[in-house]
Amino acid sequence: MTTLTIYTSDGREGETTTDQAVIAATLGGLGVQYERWHANRPLAADAGQDEVLEAYRDEIERLNADHGFQSVDVVSLGSDHPDKVTLRRKFLAEHTHEDFEIRFFVDGRGLFYLHVDGQVCLVLCERGDLISVPANTTHWFDMGENPCFTCIRFFTTPEGWLAEFTGSDIANRFPDFDTYVAGCV
Ligand SMILES: [Fe+2]
Repeated sequence: MTTLTIYTSDGREGETTTDQAVIAATLGGLGVQYERWHANRPLAADAGQDEVLEAYRDEIERLNADHGFQSVDVVSLGSDHPDKVTLRRKFLAEHTHEDFEIRFFVDGRGLFYLHVDGQVCLVLCERGDLISVPANTTHWFDMGENPCFTCIRFFTTPEGWLAEFTGSDIANRFPDFDTYVAGCV
């Protein structure tokens, strides 16, 4: 279930909610776009990129009109991926992007950490969730030891999201994906 927990930036746990409206309002207050999307046609578990993009065509077109994306693609990662450790590490430390980041979870889950205004918001995203990370927002992302997700990614630059790492070890003070998910059961 989509879950939001707000911590202080020194790692003290605060409130947790699974209320969609509260999650959207809280994130909206931070300038983060959060939406729930529904496929306009049935989508097989092994659907390819074209089928996925077609299933969400209306929402994608709306987002494109709002933001002028240069490219949209679908990325899929399973627990049998040979580079899963390297890929997980890529965005596991706190970083920013000049470009804002938007992802839609077609399937599976991932955990975003947004470090804003002295707080760290942990947002466990799942199938049907769209989340944005505003430009220059300090954040990181964990897909867990055994990643499982299919996401639509939206880019406004041909280079994609170039990470600028802050050098902070703040990510080590927060539960990783597997620990957080275990606590949500
Ligand atoms: Fe990022």
